[in-house]
Amino acid sequence: MDADLVLRPRVDGLLTEVLADPGRLSELVQALGSPLNLVLPQRLAENAAAFDAVYERHRLSGTIYFAHKANRSSALVRELAATGCGIDVASLGELRHALAAGFTGDRIMATGPKDTEFLWLAARVGAVVSADSAQELSALAGIVARFGLDPVRVMIRFGGFDSPGVPILSRPSRFGVHSGELPGVLDLLENHRKELRLLGTAFHLDTTGIEEKALALEGCLVAMSAALARGFAPTAIDIGGGFGVNYLAARQDWERYTTELGRAALGQRPPLTWQNHGYGLRAEGGTLRGALGLYPAHRRLAGADYLAELLAHESAALGRPLATLLLENLYDLHIEPGRALTDQCGLTLARVAEVRTLHTGDVLVRLAANSRDISIEDHAVLMDPLLLPVRREPGAPAAVYLGGNLCLEDDFLTRRAVLLPQLPAPGDLLAFVNTAGYFMDFAAGPALMQPQARTVAVYPAAGGWGWCLDEQYWPGKGDRS
Ligand SMILES: Cc1ncc(COP(=O)(O)O)c(C=O)c1O
Repeated sequence: MDADLVLRPRVDGLLTEVLADPGRLSELVQALGSPLNLVLPQRLAENAAAFDAVYERHRLSGTIYFAHKANRSSALVRELAATGCGIDVASLGELRHALAAGFTGDRIMATGPKDTEFLWLAARVGAVVSADSAQELSALAGIVARFGLDPVRVMIRFGGFDSPGVPILSRPSRFGVHSGELPGVLDLLENHRKELRLLGTAFHLDTTGIEEKALALEGCLVAMSAALARGFAPTAIDIGGGFGVNYLAARQDWERYTTELGRAALGQRPPLTWQNHGYGLRAEGGTLRGALGLYPAHRRLAGADYLAELLAHESAALGRPLATLLLENLYDLHIEPGRALTDQCGLTLARVAEVRTLHTGDVLVRLAANSRDISIEDHAVLMDPLLLPVRREPGAPAAVYLGGNLCLEDDFLTRRAVLLPQLPAPGDLLAFVNTAGYFMDFAAGPALMQPQARTVAVYPAAGGWGWCLDEQYWPGKGDRS
């Protein structure tokens, strides 16, 4: 494979220091098994501070609710509890976890599909409930009335908006109500004034497009006016998550690689992937068809910078930048970043179990981990792992396929052949970096009774970095050791 077909990951801060000590990482894997997750809780707080700075620049108030679903680590959630952030929980389990980590109910936003138990605990502890439907609001009002609880603050989450001529939200969502349903929802809230208090309006869009989000934010502003006109006093707009991460160190890597993927799909070059998988691209009569179904692994604009750009966006309908519109109305701006807050907050180590040359000449490296333990492929992110050879002399670069430990044909950690600086040997480690957002434990499970990753928390300590088991980490850990 061409020597420049690499997708080098972006690594900085403490993660760089951690990777500089492969001997120690190898000892950790020997002691705690493969795969092994490392999380860096204090980086989460630093990422939140970058979002805070955007709020300050625009003189906006509001809360950053970390979307818990991105990672199950207790260390991350506990460290966050020591900051000014809130947390967005999308299940009863996540809500209980947040409470046990030190969050009080008033700092919690309950989102996603909710069953009765989840609604009850959210109401009991005074969390904000981002309502997915009118039925959910009715159920919540019933719980509050039945148990004599304090009124619950609710957000109306929208999944689509009406606009003159064109539909604003291009992708249909199974969550939230349509803006056309707003009058009915306000009627319902009117009937439950004793149980529910309208805090504001919300959306979460799974898109990288600023334009789409700006239109949804406009839709929320319009809905706020409608609610005010009906005698409610909403004060906040929640624009969800989706601020994104830039995973790759170099834009050229991404451009070169995706161009060659297209050429491979057209048969103009040898395949880059297992059985010439096209990631959505295919050749039809010599023409490239389909669309690349990949996360844009290299992004010019991500995280707090993406929020800044969105806020500076001029609303076409309302004639001023979105930040100005929020400020003029004295609305709080709430956000729910998951992936962006976990940027550079972790990595996953996997031990090489076997290296085999197939009859085709392809080299298959089997790892003591599988595609659910490290679910980058599932999330359509292409990014090379780093080889941590602990023992041997450097050798020639080698293109290899990375297979997992499940007895399943499609258990590849990535369908691409990845170019490693040398052929690995059993016992070497591969480090998959930047896995803390969705890739380390979102999909991991006990399939085939293979070992599930332990998680350790890593923190700056005298002379470098210290670590402890995830469950033993509490804020201030580094100061004490
Ligand atoms: C309601 C809601 N908020 C926030 C998020 C977090 O999104 P991201 O991790 O892309 O920031 C999600 C992700 O699915 C979500 O469903």
